[in-house]
Amino acid sequence: MLELNNITKIFNAGTVDETTLFDNFSFKLEKGEFAAVIGSNGSGKTTLLNLACGTIKPDGGTVIFKGEDITKLPEHKRAKSIGRVLQDPRLGTCGNLTILENMALADNKNKSFGLGAGVNKKRVDYYKSLLETCGMGLENRMNVPVGNLSGGQRQAAALIIASMTDIDLLVLDEHTAALDPKSSETLMQITDKVVKEKNLTTLMVTHNLRFAIEYGTRLVMMHEGRCVMDIKGEEKKNANVDDLLKVFNEISIEVGN
Ligand SMILES: Nc1ncnc2c1ncn2[C@@H]1O[C@H](COP(=O)(O)OP(=O)(O)O)[C@@H](O)[C@H]1O
Ligand SMILES: [Mg+2]
Repeated sequence: MLELNNITKIFNAGTVDETTLFDNFSFKLEKGEFAAVIGSNGSGKTTLLNLACGTIKPDGGTVIFKGEDITKLPEHKRAKSIGRVLQDPRLGTCGNLTILENMALADNKNKSFGLGAGVNKKRVDYYKSLLETCGMGLENRMNVPVGNLSGGQRQAAALIIASMTDIDLLVLDEHTAALDPKSSETLMQITDKVVKEKNLTTLMVTHNLRFAIEYGTRLVMMHEGRCVMDIKGEEKKNANVDDLLKVFNEISIEVGN
């Protein structure tokens, strides 16, 4: 489904701030996998997602998506097949538009016509059914500006919107991190439900080790531009937070932190 092959990524090349993040980095995500990615700050998690989405281009290596080389394909062209939710609730949706307007816009993102054509009764009923998945009563608040929702509600709406069109990959970058613990938990449960119902191939960066263990089919730990742990199946089921912390600590000792 998604392959990053032999990726090199150097930031600020040729300056005193030159940083080589990825050096011959490879990562593969199979169709139907739900990978939780954890790792220390600056380990390259967001950059990995950015490479998949086309937000940044690699300095070397290739990005293959559904068998096609998309290394040079611009971000907006990838957005048709990739849904994305970021950490900041303000970024996923347009705050002064209503839930309905945000959904109608997203619904039409693959079509050439604008807002007006999107909203008929049948579509509205469909949007409602999608919002019901959240169990937050959002389906009864479709005419409320998204900016008036709580952070958790807004992220849930952003998730529904990111996954409402026919996407092949869902990308989540610490999408629960800005929320209080309870809202974070609720959003994680909604995420799991949406991913399972739609059988979405998903790449989720999370700061929450427990989420990484409890959710998803695969767990990847990044450190300094490398995957230092990659487990699935029984091995993932048997992992616990202490094991992950132990690996974190061992890495920190190795690099002298
Ligand atoms: N746009 C950028 N400009 C310069 N350096 C960057 C940029 N994006 C990322 N980096 C570098 O790459 C490292 C990894 O960043 P990132 O992928 O955002 O880490 P993570 O999401 O794991 O915290 C950062 O520590 C930084 O040094
Ligand atoms: Mg990040």
